[in-house]
Amino acid sequence: MRVGFAGLGHMGLPMATRLADHGLTLTVWNRTASRAAPLAARGVPVAGSPAALAAGSDVLITMLADGQAAREVWSALLPACRPGCTGVDMSTTGPSAAREIAAEAARHGADFLDAPVSGSTALAEQGTLTTMAGGPAEVFERVRPVLAALTTRQVHLGPAGAGAAMKLAVNIMIAATNQAVAEALALAADAGITPASAYDTLAASAVASPFLGYKRDAYLADDAPVAFTTALMAKDLELALSLAGHAGLALPVATAARRSLADACAAGYADADFACVARLLRVGVRDAHATS
Ligand SMILES: NC(=O)c1ccc[n+]([C@@H]2O[C@H](COP(=O)([O-])OP(=O)(O)OC[C@H]3O[C@@H](n4cnc5c(N)ncnc54)[C@H](OP(=O)(O)O)[C@@H]3O)[C@@H](O)[C@H]2O)c1
Repeated sequence: MRVGFAGLGHMGLPMATRLADHGLTLTVWNRTASRAAPLAARGVPVAGSPAALAAGSDVLITMLADGQAAREVWSALLPACRPGCTGVDMSTTGPSAAREIAAEAARHGADFLDAPVSGSTALAEQGTLTTMAGGPAEVFERVRPVLAALTTRQVHLGPAGAGAAMKLAVNIMIAATNQAVAEALALAADAGITPASAYDTLAASAVASPFLGYKRDAYLADDAPVAFTTALMAKDLELALSLAGHAGLALPVATAARRSLADACAAGYADADFACVARLLRVGVRDAHATS
């Protein structure tokens, strides 16, 4: 089975690297070709265009920024795909984009799953992500061995768009947790507790979670690498609240988290890790003390 992988960003590069580590026959493509260099250096072929990637692949996987990027790349992949090709979009796009791409795939005779992931770069490196899939169950079962090279858990949730919708549900909880961590650290800082002591206490408390475990450096170390940008998390909250709006749901916690993320973007932190919300709130506490 020949696998083509498009989108070698923070998540896509470690995911494609895992496929190469599993010995799958892999070709990659990325809009900015230089980001493919680490894979090219170990002998993974780099396609010159999405069409070239599609022409040589039985399974196509994408890990792109958002719905617009996914629509653009799939509209270049699908006309060139091989008969019986299976497409899997693992980006977070929202259910509308997922259903549109699935319909376009069907017009080109390709099977398609939306299969976004939960977890971040460290879990992508370890292959311990969770994927939540929407699309035909038999397509999910057929492509599951490839998904299993990237993820520990693969959950099939329903027809096209179901995985994309579930991913937004997960991310309103991540964004709400991010906001809650920020507020807890700010309150503790106001009481003179160091961020590290406060964080480690949270991580040992009743709310301990894998998220608190793998995000420790992002919350505490100024030089921690960016895993998930504030801009992309803000995008996910926009998608979630738009979906909620159509359903007549208010989602007050998600609305508050979106406001914090939008404020962080407006303050110049769009490309910082979304954990910056906590640092901005702590700085606010410090500044409030300085001026009182
Ligand atoms: N980072 C995380 O922790 C995390 C966790 C779970 C899910 N996700 C989701 O996974 C997806 C990827 O996230 P990421 O953090 O890897 O993002 P990223 O580092 O910003 O990478 C985005 C990728 O999309 C490509 N891209 C963007 N616009 C494009 C376009 N118009 N045409 C072609 N390619 C385009 C970029 O190509 P260039 O290199 O040319 O810019 C890059 O390969 C997002 O949907 C995100 O919400 C992220």
